[in-house]
Amino acid sequence: MCGIVGYIGDKNAQSFLISGLKRLEYRGYDSAGIATLSEKGKATLIRAKGKIANLEEKVAKNKRSDTTGIGHTRWATHGEPSEKNAHPHKAGSIYLVHNGIIENYKAIKEHLKDHEFKSDTDTEVLAALINSFYSDGKHSLADAVVQALKLAKGTYGIAVISENNPDEIIVARSGSPLVIGVGNGETLIASDASALVGHTKNAIYLKDGEIARVTKDSIEVKTLNSEPVSAKVEEIETNLAAIQKGGYDHFLLKEIMEQPDSLAETLRGRIDAKNGTVTLGGPGLSESELRRISHLVIVGCGTAYYAGVLAGYYIEQFTPGITIEPVIASEYRYKQSYLPENSLALIVSQSGETADTLACLREIKKQGIKTIGIVNAIGSTIAREVDGGTYVHVGPEISVASTKAFTSQVIAMVMFGITMAQAKGVKNTILRPYINEIAKLPTEIKKVLDGSADQIKKITKKYTKYEHGIYLGRDVAYPTAMEGALKMKEISYLDANAYAFGELKHGPLALVDDRFFEVAILPKGHLYDKAISNVQEVLARGGHMVVFTNEDSFDLPVENVVKITTQLEIFAPILMNILSQLFAYNMAVAKGNNVDQPRNLAKSVTVE
Ligand code: G6P
Repeated sequence: MCGIVGYIGDKNAQSFLISGLKRLEYRGYDSAGIATLSEKGKATLIRAKGKIANLEEKVAKNKRSDTTGIGHTRWATHGEPSEKNAHPHKAGSIYLVHNGIIENYKAIKEHLKDHEFKSDTDTEVLAALINSFYSDGKHSLADAVVQALKLAKGTYGIAVISENNPDEIIVARSGSPLVIGVGNGETLIASDASALVGHTKNAIYLKDGEIARVTKDSIEVKTLNSEPVSAKVEEIETNLAAIQKGGYDHFLLKEIMEQPDSLAETLRGRIDAKNGTVTLGGPGLSESELRRISHLVIVGCGTAYYAGVLAGYYIEQFTPGITIEPVIASEYRYKQSYLPENSLALIVSQSGETADTLACLREIKKQGIKTIGIVNAIGSTIAREVDGGTYVHVGPEISVASTKAFTSQVIAMVMFGITMAQAKGVKNTILRPYINEIAKLPTEIKKVLDGSADQIKKITKKYTKYEHGIYLGRDVAYPTAMEGALKMKEISYLDANAYAFGELKHGPLALVDDRFFEVAILPKGHLYDKAISNVQEVLARGGHMVVFTNEDSFDLPVENVVKITTQLEIFAPILMNILSQLFAYNMAVAKGNNVDQPRNLAKSVTVE
C-alpha cells in the first residue's frame, strides 16, 4: 500500500526519494510525488499519476540540488488516483505525506472553513489542520503536528516539512509503520526498511504514539504527550541481493524458485529429524501452558488465512482434543465472540502490518488470551505486539502475491502444533512422520521445481482461452485449492474459485462448461478414491481438467495431468500448491499482466 520516504543530509534529495520510492513500488500504488526544499526553503513539489517512471520523467525536467525532502506512493482510499490527490499535500508553508486514514476528516474539514482544499483526500485535511496551528507563529512545526494529531482519529504514518525550516523533518506514527534510518551526516525516512537498504544499516522503528524531529545529524523522539523516548537503534537485516530480481524476469518467479532455501531458513535450528524433535524458542510458552491449550484460533488475511486453514487441518490430525478455528481477520475483529479460557491465538502475517490482523491481535489480547505471531517482517508491528512468536525468516517477499511466505507459514504453524502436541504427551510415533517429512520438504520442493516447471509452462498455454477456473480438493487439498484459486485470480485476473470436492453436487457442478477449466488437487491418501469419483463427475460433464497428483497410477482421461514423484505423502499438497503457483504465474505472463504488482492490489494492507 502507500509508501513514505524522506531524506535530510548533504546529498541530492530528489535522487534518494525516487530510488526509495522505487523500492516501495512492490507495495502497490497508483500515483506518486515528492517535495524537496532548497537551503533557503524554496519548495519544489512534483507529483504524477501512475507509475514512478512518470514522476521520474517530470523530475528530470525539474532537477533540483535540494538536500531535504519527502516522497510518497499513494494507493487511493479517499479520492480517485490523480495528480491532485497524490501526496505530498501542501497547506500554507507545510508539505505532508501520509499513510493510513484520518477517519474524522469530515468533521475537521468543517472547522477549517477558511482553507481552500484542492484535493479529495483526508490527508490534505490533516495538512491543513497542522498548518492551522503552525501558521499562528506560536507553535514549532513539531508542536503543531502534535496538536493536530491529538485531534485526528484514525491511523497514520506521516512525514512533514516546512518551507520555514529546511533543516528538519517531523515524523510520527500510529498504526502505520515508520522507520528512521540513522546515517552518517544524513537521516533517512521510510515506511519500510527496504527503502533504506544500501544507505544505512541502522534504524529506529518508531512506535505508535511517537513523534520524532529529525535533522541531518540528530533524532529526537517523544511521545505525543511530550515525554522523551530513548529510542533503540536496531540493525536492518535485509541485504541488497534479497530485494533485487537476481536474473529472474519477475520477483514472483524468483520467490517461487527460492522456496527450497526460504523454507530451509524457516527450519534452521528448529527441526531435528535425527532425534525427532522440534524446538521453537520464540513462543516462550512453558510445557504446562502448551499442555493446557484446547482452542487454537488462527488469524490472517488472504494467503495468510489460507495458510492458517491448511495448518489447522494438519494440527488437528495429531492433536487430540484440540479445537481449531481459522478466522478471516476483517470478519473476526468485529465479531461479538469470546474465546474459551484455554485458548491461544496464532497471528499470521507476512508483513506484520496488516490492519485487520493487527486489530484482531489487540482485541484478542484484551480478552487475556496469549498471542503468538507467525510473521516474516522482523520488527513489524505485529511481531512487536504479540506475546511470543516464530519468525518464518523467508526474507523480503516483494511480489504482491504471496508464495514463499505461504509455504513457510504453514510449516511454522505445524511445527508449533508439534511442540504443543509433544507437551500434551502425543506419542513420538504419531509425530515422527510429520517431523521426517518437514525435514525433507526443502529438497522435495526443489525436485518439483526442477521436474515440473517446464511442463506447467507448456500446459498453461492451453488454458489461456478460458474465462473461469474451478479449483477442487478434499481435506488438506481443499485449503490448497483455495490458495491456488486465490493466486490465479490475484495475478491472472481470471475468475477462479475453490470448492471442496464434496460440495460439487451442491452447486458448482452446474458451472462446468466450455468457459471453465478445473484444477484438481489429488494427493494420495484415504480420500483419494472419493476424489477420483468427483473427478469423474466433472469429466462426464465435459470438464476441461488439469490434475496435480502424486499418485503414479492415476490414469483417467483428463486433458492434462502433472504427476510429481516425491517421497512425501503428508505434505504432498504443499508441493501441489507450488504447481498452482507456477500455473498462476505462467497464466499472468501469458496475459501480459503486471505480475509483481497486480492491478488494484497492495502488498501490505495497512488500512481497513
Ligand atoms: C495482501 C497481500 C496478500 C497477503 C495479504 C495478507 O492482500 O496482497 O499477498 O496474503 O495481504 O498479508 P500479510 O502481510 O498479513 O500476510
